[in-house]
Amino acid sequence: MYNSKISGLGYYVPENVVTNDDLSKVMDTNDEWIQERTGIKERRHVVKGDGDTTTTMGVKAAQKAIEKSGLDKDEIDFIIFATLSPDYYFPGPGVLVQRDLGLKRTIGALDVRNQCSGFIYAISVADQFIKTGMYKNILVIGSELHSTGLDMTTRGRAVSVIFGDGAGAAVLSREEDTTKGILSTHLHSEGQHAEELSLIAPGMGKRWVTDIIADNDPNDESYYPYMNGQFVFKNAVVRFSEVIMEGLKANNLQVSDIDMLIPHQANLRISQFIQQKFQLSNDQIYNNIMRYGNTTAASVPIALTEAFEEGKIKEGDTVVLAAFGSGFTWGSAIIKW
Ligand code: UT7
Repeated sequence: MYNSKISGLGYYVPENVVTNDDLSKVMDTNDEWIQERTGIKERRHVVKGDGDTTTTMGVKAAQKAIEKSGLDKDEIDFIIFATLSPDYYFPGPGVLVQRDLGLKRTIGALDVRNQCSGFIYAISVADQFIKTGMYKNILVIGSELHSTGLDMTTRGRAVSVIFGDGAGAAVLSREEDTTKGILSTHLHSEGQHAEELSLIAPGMGKRWVTDIIADNDPNDESYYPYMNGQFVFKNAVVRFSEVIMEGLKANNLQVSDIDMLIPHQANLRISQFIQQKFQLSNDQIYNNIMRYGNTTAASVPIALTEAFEEGKIKEGDTVVLAAFGSGFTWGSAIIKW
């Protein structure tokens, strides 16, 4: 058995910055409300015509991650792509990345549909493949294009002000020393709350496609993401804490052993709740939701890349990744850097 380590990281966000004041020009909202409730100051939105999609952003993040890993792109054995906003209904973006990045022509590509926890689920799957010796180097991507699918009117303000676009990527590589790299991952879901944070259409369960074509109603709210915000918030703080503790316990670690916690960037208030509960200093937790909003499957790899590039993660550090979101799904990863 082997371990897997993160051998390269990269991220990409569109250049276009959308501030809270920008949003207040198109819907009834304001900077004070958004900052107070979420901590978000600005987010990135793609610009129509610039050509950025979930796949192209994922490709740009992946190019950086592969470059940082020092590997040749032909050494990538497998691709895992996590997103809730794929370019196409099918096929998923994994194969598009394989083609657009010019990776080996017939390597496998897997798409993960676990929303905010997507990146944690994806590295967990990659880790299992590497542990068993099946693959040596796996490209894992989390990428989201939210802005083109949000209700940018006052009706959608509780959701639309939160989400941003962007992508993060990691290369996971074989590590012979089993005391290093990813020590464990823990994954959970609770499907009974599936609709509490969801986008119902254009799923095939909503209606017959012929009906959609016949009476496509732009005011049909099921075409926009729905979130029962307070219910999601209450569950998030509980599940984040549980799954971090579960990971630590499995490795005989204490909260005080955490050198860096990278929580999914859902709401700064959630991160602060966890920080306070675990009594972590500002150096032991990384947040960038202020600048990017919630980028769902991309949030953990973007934050991880930034924290690493800012020198906040060093060799030998215990790094904890944790996420909670739609499904509900949640998970954690404990990494010895
Ligand atoms: O990434 C997946 C996981 N996601 C999460 O964990 C998110 C969890 N939930 C949250 O972060 C928060 O629930 C939100 C930030 C989404 C909402 O904050 P809240 O404190 O729960 O606000 P609320 O939905 O209860 O709304 C409070 C008030 C309402 O007005 P009334 O009914 O009290 O008059 C809303 O209509 O705030 C109003 N409101 C807004 N006002 C200005 C909702 N959205 C906005 C807005 N601007 N954008």
